[in-house]
Amino acid sequence: MDLQLKGKTALILGGSKGLGRGVADALAAEGVAVALVARGQEGLSRAVSEITSRGAKAAGFAADLANWPSIEDAANAARKQLGAIDILLNNSGGPPPSGVAGVSAKVWEEQFNAMVLPLFRITDLLLGDMRARKWGRILNVASMSVVEPIATIGVSNTLRSAIVGWAKTLATETARDGITVNTLLPGPIATDRTVQLSRAAAARENISVEQAIKRSADSIPVGRLGTPAEFGAVAAFLASPLAAYVTGSLIRVDGGAIRSV
Ligand SMILES: NC(=O)c1ccc[n+]([C@@H]2O[C@H](COP(=O)([O-])OP(=O)(O)OC[C@H]3O[C@@H](n4cnc5c(N)ncnc54)[C@H](OP(=O)(O)O)[C@@H]3O)[C@@H](O)[C@H]2O)c1
Repeated sequence: MDLQLKGKTALILGGSKGLGRGVADALAAEGVAVALVARGQEGLSRAVSEITSRGAKAAGFAADLANWPSIEDAANAARKQLGAIDILLNNSGGPPPSGVAGVSAKVWEEQFNAMVLPLFRITDLLLGDMRARKWGRILNVASMSVVEPIATIGVSNTLRSAIVGWAKTLATETARDGITVNTLLPGPIATDRTVQLSRAAAARENISVEQAIKRSADSIPVGRLGTPAEFGAVAAFLASPLAAYVTGSLIRVDGGAIRSV
C-alpha cells in the first residue's frame, strides 16, 4: 500500500533508538525526510547514517527535552534544514520506576518538565505551519498504562494521562485545519527502556533479567514483546493522508496486553 507520504517532513523526538527510531525508519521508508532529536550525539549520528545509507533523507539534532531552549533550537534548525514540519512524533524518555505515594515534588516537577510540558510547547511551535498548510499529523507516544495503570511505574501512569487529556482537547481544536492528533499506547516492546525496567524488576524480585523479560512476554496474549518496526508501521499509517478520518484516538500497540475493551 502506498501511504502517500513521499515528500513530507517529520520531527521525531527520541528518534535515535527504540520506539522513536522505529517510527523514523517506517516514515523514511515511505519517502519522508526525518529530523531526529535526542540528547546523545553518537546515537543520533548512528541512526542518521543508517537511514541515509538506505537512500532516505535524515538529520540529527542534539537536544534535551528537559531544557526547552535546546528543543526550540533543534526544531527551528530542523525546519531550516528540511523545511516545514508536517508530522510531529511527541515522544520522550520514561521516568524511573516507582509507585506514587511519597514521590517528591521535585521528581513530579522534573518529570513533568521532561516528559509532558516540552511536548505541549513544541506542538504549539509547529502548529502555525501546519495550520497555514491545512495539513498536519501530531502523534503522541503514551503507554498502555494510561488505560491499565502499572503499579511499578506510577509517575508514568499519572503524567502520561495528562498527555491524553491534552491530546483529545487539541484534536477538536485542530480538526478543521486538516491536522489530526492521535496517541499511541505501546505495551511491552523490545527496546532499551524495556531492558531497563526489566533490570529493576529483576533486582526487586531477585530473579534474572531474562526471567523478568520472559515473564512479561508470557503475560502478553501474542506471547512475545513487540518490535519497534511493528510500532513504527502503525504510526506511519496514522501519519499518512489515508488516516485523515482518525483523530482524537488512543491506539493500542500492545499485543493484546490491555485486558479491557
Ligand atoms: N518500550 C516500551 O515497551 C514502552 C512501553 C510503554 C511506554 N513506553 C514509553 O515510550 C517512550 C520511548 O520508549 P523507548 O522504549 O523507545 O525508550 P528508549 O529505547 O530508551 O529510547 C528513548 C529515546 O528518547 C531519547 N531521550 C530520552 N530522554 C530524552 C531527553 N530528556 N531529551 C531528548 N531525548 C531523550 C533517547 O535518546 P538519548 O538517551 O540519547 O537522549 C532515545 O532516542 C518512553 O517514554 C517509554 O517510557 C515504552
